[in-house]
Amino acid sequence: MAAILSATGERDPLRTYAVNQDGTLHVLEAARKFGVRQVIFTSTIAVFGPGLPPLVGDDVSLRPTTMYGVTKVAGELLGEYYSRRHGLDFRGVRFPGLLSAVLPGGGTSDYAPLMYYETLRTGGYEAFCRPDSQIPLMYMPDALRALVELSLAPRERLGRCIYNIAAFSPTAQEIADEVARVVPGARITFKPDPARQAILDSWPRALDDTCARRDWDWRPAWDLARMSDDLTPKLAALAARAGK
Ligand code: SER
Repeated sequence: MAAILSATGERDPLRTYAVNQDGTLHVLEAARKFGVRQVIFTSTIAVFGPGLPPLVGDDVSLRPTTMYGVTKVAGELLGEYYSRRHGLDFRGVRFPGLLSAVLPGGGTSDYAPLMYYETLRTGGYEAFCRPDSQIPLMYMPDALRALVELSLAPRERLGRCIYNIAAFSPTAQEIADEVARVVPGARITFKPDPARQAILDSWPRALDDTCARRDWDWRPAWDLARMSDDLTPKLAALAARAGK
């Protein structure tokens, strides 16, 4: 899963290529050499590019605008090559932007977890996107369970290697409203950063995960409100440790 994400990746695309692309190749080669039966790959909404419909299925043209997205498309294809050529049981999901009880690390979706964390730490947050920005998001417990369930699914039920998975797709304003519900008095403002806004605008607003639901019974368990209730005390503890 180690990778340099989309926002950080654009600051040093060659390093991003080396870490993400060579890293994936090394994992696949190690699996081949040492007879590892199965590799689970984490792909991303960043494999998609502009011009897609509001609800995006698995089999659309992949035209990423970031080096992170380019390396994830190539990772999907490399894994499928190892599956065909070497019989590796290669499976993966395209993760939405993830929120969890640890701080995010360099993604363009970071505005979502930072709205919670910075509000808990300082009382407010200036988001680097427009309030109408909308991308697929997911809470980490769902993301981890998806990897386990996909790994355990009977091979004969799987019609493909890589699956879209989805949970919820709020606008940035809807997340801000939700943060204000769980942290009364939250001061959230919006000051779009053109580079990161362009990346957000190139990603789907929502993913169609019909194939994952059909082939391995994928269902998200967490929605925005339930996640907020669970995540807020955990991030509050983290913010308290970080100090004001
Ligand atoms: N969360 C990732 C990012 O923002 C997308 O997969 O780069």
